[in-house]
Amino acid sequence: MTNRNGRRKVIAIDGPAGAGKSTVARALAVNIGFDYLDTGALYRAAALKLVQAGLNEGADDDLLSSVLRRTLIEFKNGVVFLDGKDVSEEIRTPEAGHYSSVFSARKPVRDYLLEIQRNAGGTNGSSGIVAEGRDMATVVFPDALKKFYITADEHTRAQRRHAQLSEKNPDVTRENARLDIAARDERDTTRAIAPLTRAADAIEIDTTNLSIEETILKMLKECL
Ligand code: DC
Repeated sequence: MTNRNGRRKVIAIDGPAGAGKSTVARALAVNIGFDYLDTGALYRAAALKLVQAGLNEGADDDLLSSVLRRTLIEFKNGVVFLDGKDVSEEIRTPEAGHYSSVFSARKPVRDYLLEIQRNAGGTNGSSGIVAEGRDMATVVFPDALKKFYITADEHTRAQRRHAQLSEKNPDVTRENARLDIAARDERDTTRAIAPLTRAADAIEIDTTNLSIEETILKMLKECL
């Protein structure tokens, strides 16, 4: 696989919450020997820091920027570090999911994470990264070698999210998961900055009726 722009090779994957992006992105990265970059984890870590600093959706941009200036977020070998601490578990709570979606609509947060995303990877001496999120193909890596848009119908995504959340919290209902997905879809697609949208040159894969293996196979064929 050669690179189009002479820089690091990037495979960009976008799509809505619960579509299965993380699972297939991680597997694709292993298959082709690239690093994996979970940009949702970076947004979750940033949200965790802002919440810990006592901020909520009402905070103004200056306040967000001043906290982020004193923040260090890193993603190394699949692990996200906030100010040097591994926060991989803490960022997976429903509250962290909610606030990551809320704060990801804000310009200081997106500006802060842009360079971190572009500089991430390369920790295993690999030649490229599989980067997964909402604006990989449209904003962060517009020159990516391959672009995928992974989706599934809302019912299927709610089912998958329910299975995932109920592993940690058996009290989560199907309805909770459906409402969570619907609220995130609304926020992620309608925000003013870098909304979730399919890049014109992205290959769309609807995983509603596909297994994880079938999805990965389709992606691998496109990458060869
Ligand atoms: O993929 P995830 O559910 O872990 O992402 C958490 C939130 O972060 C999601 O609701 C939107 C935001 N996000 C974003 O705005 N841009 C990205 N590239 C990745 C995530």
